[in-house]
Amino acid sequence: MILLNTCHIREKAAEKVYSELGRMKGLKVAKPDLKIGVAGCVAQAEGGEIMRRQPLVDLVVGPQSYHRLPELEAKAREGGKALDTDFPEEDKFDHLAARPKAKRAPSAFLTVQEGCDKFCAFCVVPYTRGAEVSRPADRVLREARDLVDRGVREITLLGQNVNAYHGQAPEGGEWGLARLIRELATVEGLERLRFTTSHPNDMEDDLIAAHGDCAKLMPYLHLPVQSGSDRILKAMNRKHTAESYIALIDRLRAVRPDLLLSGDFIVGFPGETDEDFEATLDLVRRVGYGQAYSFKYSSRPGTPAADRAQVDPDVATERLARLQALLTEQQRSAQQAMVGRETSVLFEKLGRKPGQLVGKSEHLHAVHADAEPEMIGKVVPVRIVESAANSLRAVVLQA
Ligand code: 5AD
Ligand code: SF4
Repeated sequence: MILLNTCHIREKAAEKVYSELGRMKGLKVAKPDLKIGVAGCVAQAEGGEIMRRQPLVDLVVGPQSYHRLPELEAKAREGGKALDTDFPEEDKFDHLAARPKAKRAPSAFLTVQEGCDKFCAFCVVPYTRGAEVSRPADRVLREARDLVDRGVREITLLGQNVNAYHGQAPEGGEWGLARLIRELATVEGLERLRFTTSHPNDMEDDLIAAHGDCAKLMPYLHLPVQSGSDRILKAMNRKHTAESYIALIDRLRAVRPDLLLSGDFIVGFPGETDEDFEATLDLVRRVGYGQAYSFKYSSRPGTPAADRAQVDPDVATERLARLQALLTEQQRSAQQAMVGRETSVLFEKLGRKPGQLVGKSEHLHAVHADAEPEMIGKVVPVRIVESAANSLRAVVLQA
């Protein structure tokens, strides 16, 4: 069986799925027993349409139904078409928790919430992933302890809008993300915490404070802004302004001056003028990002912005190139600023060159250094000695 896991956030991602499926025709001719499935958000959004458009597909499963995969697989094996894009009542995480207790890599993701209630005008997430749902805190804590028992030292809390987390608390009531992070920080053996992805309006006071006083919370924050123009932010239904975003960054940097910021940007949103785009460049210059993702606007059927007049594609292409040039320059200088600094690295695996290990710095830079393989899974003090295009080189310091 081949199972494609898919993303629906931009049209390009969804189109890739169909071209990939087209390329599988030959495989299916050579191996008639081969089953082909599509999972993820394209499956959720397109449903049975995938099987109509590409009849070689045997199985379609949305993100909320992964725990039903064994039954779906059996149905596909028997020659049927298996389709499940429900939002079931039962909690898939309860079923998925019964996995074998295998050892895990040093860094792991842990989903704490799914879905989003923000309804940004460009975004399919509220439709494909549904309403915001937070997992109860005791389940998250149990899963974190289990991960640590299996060798995990760094956990990244995951959610489409993770800082909207408001899980059921063990003693009743609810915990926000900051409280959850503070409790996780007490788990012995867990050395590093991160979270992604956040909306600026859900950055509660205690979460900002945690960046200053919770030693295990790493100095890296992915905080998408999308645009630097208030007119466009309004049209995007982002419910924040460029100034309120910058004020938030100032508060974060006041408690954690070396916080490395990452962001997401969309250029060519319907109605974006040259002036709006210049405002985005201005915001980028004012914030100074260590790393960022930027995209051309992609119209998603069913979203509020889908029917609005599009920006000339050539103009959008040119804007993206200019924005990316600026972001790349900022990334380079953030990396360069690390050279000479002492920090720590969590080694994750062998490097490409003999004798070398690779891992992540506190600021999420990829770092390679000469070290013994026994250091994999350990947080080790290092000095950064060189910055390459997309990674840093370090020397291990004696602890
Ligand atoms: N077009 C382009 N980029 C998009 N994103 C989400 N929806 C779209 C879209 N329709 C980007 C946003 C978001 C990131 C995950 O993907 O920047 O933060
Ligand atoms: Fe999409 Fe993020 Fe906006 Fe939610 S907050 S609608 S996931 S862009």
